[in-house]
Amino acid sequence: MAKIVFSETGEERELEDGSEIQEVCEDEGVPFACTEGVCGTCVIEIEEGMENLTEFTQEEEDFLGELDTERLACQCKIKGGCVKVRF
Ligand code: FES
Repeated sequence: MAKIVFSETGEERELEDGSEIQEVCEDEGVPFACTEGVCGTCVIEIEEGMENLTEFTQEEEDFLGELDTERLACQCKIKGGCVKVRF
């Protein structure tokens, strides 16, 4: 099992390894719009565990530009382990 920790609330959510993170993020209040990596509504900051997310998609590279600590929650999946996010 993988885990996402939401740093503002301290909420922890478990999900299957390899899952999309969108649903859990949506439950915790991350806003979504296009869900296709185009609008940028779902930007989240990864405080820990970036290595536990799947590679940046082309959409993320196009939208985020300099790839650093941000991801688009509609685009990435969690490979396993723990990821700490802020939004
Ligand atoms: S919801 Fe539009 S980029 Fe993720």
